[in-house]
Amino acid sequence: MRKNIVAGNWKMNKNVIEAQQLMFQLLEYKKNNAANCEVWIAPPSLYLMMARDLYENNEIGVFAQDMSEHESGAYTGEISAGMLESIEATGTLVGHSERRQYHGETDAACNKKVKRALDMGLTPIYCNGETLDQRKAGQHLEVVKNQTEEALFTLSAEELKKVVIAYEPVWAIGTGETASPEQAQEIHAHIRSLIAAKYGQEVADEISILYGGSVKPDNAKEIFSQPDIDGGLIGGAALKMDDFAKIIEGFNS
Ligand code: PGA
Repeated sequence: MRKNIVAGNWKMNKNVIEAQQLMFQLLEYKKNNAANCEVWIAPPSLYLMMARDLYENNEIGVFAQDMSEHESGAYTGEISAGMLESIEATGTLVGHSERRQYHGETDAACNKKVKRALDMGLTPIYCNGETLDQRKAGQHLEVVKNQTEEALFTLSAEELKKVVIAYEPVWAIGTGETASPEQAQEIHAHIRSLIAAKYGQEVADEISILYGGSVKPDNAKEIFSQPDIDGGLIGGAALKMDDFAKIIEGFNS
């Protein structure tokens, strides 16, 4: 089911009081405003249960920022799909570029994580995107193709329909530099056409593809208006209620 989504990735920010405050603000906002999109957050895993308890009516989707590719066992520091399922989390990010860059995450590992998440009824948000060097070398279409195929194309059509994809060019994350709406649209259409070629147009049309990388209140509306862009994965601007609200309102006409 293709839907419009604004998801906030809090990364490693906020102490427990600050996290609780922002979660409350978001709940108040959702109660008082009719959003034209799904609103999801991915706080640090330490705060997931707090979010789940607060959003008991599923007003806001609750996502982990990462989870283990393994089922359970001696993997110090990790959390599993089963644990996320047991707290009724909505899903998890998979393959964020910071996990790839600092923790050596590969598309083979992403493939296992996506499958494990789906097996537990969780929604994976699979992230991909090229680096600046790859973009400068004109390899962006190829890089995104390889990432998408390797991480997702062992799934069945029914499984793939439950995945959300986030295209996040690494050079635009946290840099203040945003892909132009046309640059983002090009890649989004590319990803959708790869899916259509392998699974058929009907499947491709059902998948939400988000853009991430310096989405701000002043550029959200234009980015979201592109035909193949179904929302955003928001980092820095998700940490302040005012900014996040304006981005959500990028879907208001
Ligand atoms: P940013 O981060 O909005 O701060 O660029 C986006 C992301 O990494 O998901």
